[in-house]
Amino acid sequence: MKVVGINGSSRKGGNTAIMIKRVFAELEAEGIETELIELSGKKMRGCIACYKCVENKDRRCGITNDFMNECIEAMDNADGIILGSPTYFANISTEMKALIDRAGVVGRVNDDMFARKVGAGVVTRRRGGAMQAFNALNTFFFIEQMIVPGSRYWNMGDGMDKGDVSKDDEGMETMEILGKNMAWLMKKLGN
Ligand SMILES: Cc1cc2nc3c(=O)[nH]c(=O)nc-3n(C[C@H](O)[C@H](O)[C@H](O)COP(=O)(O)O)c2cc1C
Repeated sequence: MKVVGINGSSRKGGNTAIMIKRVFAELEAEGIETELIELSGKKMRGCIACYKCVENKDRRCGITNDFMNECIEAMDNADGIILGSPTYFANISTEMKALIDRAGVVGRVNDDMFARKVGAGVVTRRRGGAMQAFNALNTFFFIEQMIVPGSRYWNMGDGMDKGDVSKDDEGMETMEILGKNMAWLMKKLGN
């Protein structure tokens, strides 16, 4: 079994990556393979409504000159998907929104290709707006017919500067429990 984690932060190895890796530690302890994809520095434009994905139905986005199809392929090949984003102006990052819009349509028009995979959203924040970002990630999982595990708190961690989130004990514990629940669920589903 494999989980891919996609970090939508513009900052590589920052708080969102730290949180995803905390979830990964629990998954790996249960023998689940993990892969982290960082969108920082990658070209990821938004959907252009060309509907080529509807026409082609080839499990790919019609825009082929950016990083999107690599992400979609990794999501397609995984049993579980973690989408991580920092809170930017009370929502997810631009790159993560582009991923949701484009992978979202590709998934729906290709026999619901993400259906029944396990999905979890992870959000970091300095202060406010994280719930809205968290809901934006969950909106993707639910419309793609994915199965979403919970944790003891909503999946978020606090921090401003790179590394700050490691000091948020409750946030890190939330990731630990999320990882355990995600592994448990994946094994039960046995996809
Ligand atoms: C453009 C931008 C907008 C931000 N907007 C918010 C915000 O609305 N609410 C908040 O709590 N933090 C906000 N932040 C802070 C980040 O969410 C916070 O620093 C987070 O830990 C960054 O995660 P990273 O290290 O993975 O990039 C913003 C940061 C940037 C760069």
